[in-house]
Amino acid sequence: MKFKPFFTNLSFNIFIKHNNSLYIKHKNPTFLLSQNPRFFMAQSATLCDNVASVEEDDNLCANPTNNLGLKIEKDEILEVGSPRLGPNLSGESRIERAWAHWKKLGEPKLIVAPMVDNSELPFRLLCRKYGATAAYTPMLHSRIFTENEKYRLQEFTTCKRIARRGNYGAFLMNNLPLVKSLVEKLASNLSTPVSCKIRVFPDLEDTLNYAKMLEDAGCALLAVHGRTRDEKDGKKVRANWNAIRAVKNAVRIPVLANGNVRHMDDVQSCLEETGADGVLSAESLLENPALFAGFRTAEWAVNSSDRNENGKIDQGTLLEEYLKLCEEYPVPWRMIRAHVHKMLGEWFRIHPHVREDFNGQTKLTFEYLYDMINRLRELGVEKPLYVKRLA
Ligand SMILES: Cc1cc2nc3c(=O)[nH]c(=O)nc-3n(C[C@H](O)[C@H](O)[C@H](O)COP(=O)(O)O)c2cc1C
Repeated sequence: MKFKPFFTNLSFNIFIKHNNSLYIKHKNPTFLLSQNPRFFMAQSATLCDNVASVEEDDNLCANPTNNLGLKIEKDEILEVGSPRLGPNLSGESRIERAWAHWKKLGEPKLIVAPMVDNSELPFRLLCRKYGATAAYTPMLHSRIFTENEKYRLQEFTTCKRIARRGNYGAFLMNNLPLVKSLVEKLASNLSTPVSCKIRVFPDLEDTLNYAKMLEDAGCALLAVHGRTRDEKDGKKVRANWNAIRAVKNAVRIPVLANGNVRHMDDVQSCLEETGADGVLSAESLLENPALFAGFRTAEWAVNSSDRNENGKIDQGTLLEEYLKLCEEYPVPWRMIRAHVHKMLGEWFRIHPHVREDFNGQTKLTFEYLYDMINRLRELGVEKPLYVKRLA
């Protein structure tokens, strides 16, 4: 199967709908394909400041098996697509097409946000088991993806420094004419609708002009992260849902809201306050992949204790499930390492010596990891995830 490169040095994410069709989202801008998600499971090397040897951590955690779907079949491509927009399609037709596509995707409301090195297949599958209705892959590199079959078997990852040099992601906000031409080019040449994910500008008018420009250029689905490019610490800076609401009111294509979705009450409030068609969550899902199924960490348990119910699962259970998925759909150890830190962060705070021992492992094994979870349980860690008791 041949991919034709439209341009050379950009990256994209893939938005996977619950029926396994894929939605390729260019990192400002986006394009869409339908694909077997198993294809996107092996990972490439990236910079990583783990204690363990980077080389060991870049190895896959298991041998890929036959069920990995490592070959893309031509007829799998573009099944979520529609006829090409072509350069002359009217604004009205574009809007209709955007909504038709959104409906075809099943109007997913609970979405796993794109996360470099973190939204790989086993993690997406875990989130989907616990309520997520769609998921983005991490950022992929479009030139390598189009040119090299081996790379198409890998999720290509990057970091902020590379993003700046390569003019990726939020760094494209410095060059809006380039963004416009990219989205136009993609939208008029691809038969799959193009989606974009943006951050907001400090000035609301700039954000609205940006969003309208993307819509006019042919974007069919717009995810808005309600923080500016400089607002890096998502835990400290609240996302601006008012700005997302203003975008939703200013454009006519479907809009997804992103930022500050930490539990299901946030999902509800975010949908109500922004009027968005769905929400994306990132950081909170890393700690609690069962968020979209209504589970909360103690931090977000409902204030009054009589409204909390022990959900009978904890982050150790989720990590075990994730590890089993990794055995089936192998990823590099460094991704597993990152997920262990996120899911067991609170457990490690109680028993830091277990974290130190984990960090000291230059070569991880599944046996070590399952034992480590048991060890923490034997040490008495009890941190259930909660659900809200129904009245
Ligand atoms: C580990 C990590 C990796 C990320 N990688 C990407 C990426 O590849 N592409 C992207 O558009 N956003 C990326 N993001 C940003 C998230 O998609 C999301 O916009 C941001 O974290 C805000 O959502 P939150 O408040 O739910 O965390 C990443 C976030 C995290 C935490």
